[in-house]
This record gives sequence, C-alpha cells and structure tokens, in this order.
Amino acid sequence: MHNPAMHNSAMHGLAPIEPRPFLGYGLGLRPCYFDDLLKGEAAVDWLELLSENYMVPGGKPLHVLDAMAERYPLVLHGVSMSIGGTEPLDLAYLARLKTLAERARPRWISDHLCFTGAGGNNLHDLYPLPYTEEALRHVVARVRQVQDFLGRRILLENVSSYLSYRQSSMSEWQFLSAIAEEADCLLLLDINNVFVSAVNHGFKPEDFLHGLPPERVWQFHLAGHSEADGFLVDTHDQPVRAEVWDLYQTALRHFGAVSTMIERDDNFPEFAELAEELQTARRLGEAVLSREAA
Ligand SMILES: [Fe+2]
Repeated sequence: MHNPAMHNSAMHGLAPIEPRPFLGYGLGLRPCYFDDLLKGEAAVDWLELLSENYMVPGGKPLHVLDAMAERYPLVLHGVSMSIGGTEPLDLAYLARLKTLAERARPRWISDHLCFTGAGGNNLHDLYPLPYTEEALRHVVARVRQVQDFLGRRILLENVSSYLSYRQSSMSEWQFLSAIAEEADCLLLLDINNVFVSAVNHGFKPEDFLHGLPPERVWQFHLAGHSEADGFLVDTHDQPVRAEVWDLYQTALRHFGAVSTMIERDDNFPEFAELAEELQTARRLGEAVLSREAA
C-alpha cells in the first residue's frame, strides 16, 4: 500500500514518524509565572516557550530557559515563521531558531499555519490562507524547506479565523490534513480555535476533528475566547469556556492521549487559579482516557 508518510520520509531524510509522545498537562510559560513555576509546587508536567522571546544571544531569558529546562520537558512555539507567506522564508530567523533548539532541546517545535505579512510588512497578526491547491503546493514546499533546514518535523497549528476566501476549494481540515500528509509534518490542534472558527463559519467542530490524520496530531492548545461584533475572537484572556471543555473531551475520545496545555496571554489570574484550571484539563483527560481504555 502506498504510504505517503514513509514515501516523504525517505525522500527528505526524516526518520519514520514515531508513536505520539504524551507529555501530560502543561502551561505556556509567561513572565508573571516564572517564580511559581521555578518553585515547582503545582502539578505542571511540561512547558511551552514562545520561541521569539528566547532567540537572544544571552542574558535573563536564557537563564530562565536553562532553569526551566532543568525542571520541565519543554516545547517551542513560534509566531513569526509565516509558513504561508509569499516572501522567501527568513533563513536568519530559522538559523536563530535552530540555535535556540540546540540549547533548549525541545521535544518539538511548532508554529502557525498562516501568513503574518505581505509586501515586506509584518502585519503582526496570524492571517488564514485560502484553502486552494495553489496555496497547498506553496505551503508544502515551504514546510519541507523548514524541516530540511531544522532536520526535524515541525508541528503546525490551526489558527482561528473570522473571514473566508471565495477561492477556497476545500475545508480548513482538508487543507490542514493535505499539508500534514504531503509535507510530512505534524499538527498542533488548538481546540479553542476549532470552536471559534466553527461558530464564525458555521461548520461542525466534530467534522474538523474527524477530518485530521490522528497519528500526526501531537499537541492540544486550550484557551479562552471573547465575543465582539457577533464574532468569537481567540483573545486568550479568559478561562476555557464550557463548550471548549466539551470539545476537548470529544477530541480526547477521538485521538486518545495528546499532550495538552492552556494558553493564557492577557488578564492573567493568580498562578493558583491557572494551575487549578490545568487540573480541570487533567481530571477530564484522565476520566476520558480511562473510560476509553476500559
Ligand atoms: Fe493556540
């Protein structure tokens, strides 16, 4: 049988895809929680670091990085790769990312399936792509280039969106799956973004989950969202909403154990409150996974 993953691995020198590792339940590392996380008193299994914050030659960020790396498994998450952009890939950025990875030894590296600028301008936001064959070919070639450069697979995250393109000829999940299979990369599934986009565009979030290749989904994001002008916006400044907890459980039933973390980027609560929210993720996760195992 033709196996696109094997075929691509052979072509691009990546080892065959390993069974999905499970790191447990983690948090996005943010400066206001540095001290609490270094104390290590809360049940936090792993941390996600924003790559750009640590792509520096020295100083405090790297001290923090080393201290966290001693205590936690780390993953790196970037916002500037612009894998869908039309500018050439920024090789200086990729070189700095590779240097950071040599120091941080992350379990994996992720970025977003989006573009962040056009015509030489950084638009400072994550813009969705049109889901067309042309965009697919473009992104697949760029993902391969990045993976060849880094010598490892990357995870791409689904972004939330409020607009769609008339040119799109496939669904977002078909587009995401085709990129993962053809570029031989992995996926970071943001459960909140699936929910937000499902409401904004009127699709069933379950269709999105069921449309992805399960062996390539290696990480979940959970986050809160807000409502503005009749749309949902992934503001990451609220607790995870009840509907997103429901969808998280649906995703666990479908995918099995996937490393899960909460992203909080604004309106920061006390650390104890965020740690308690992570305990909710753990309780729900353990309950679903033990039921599925039985
Ligand atoms: Fe996310």
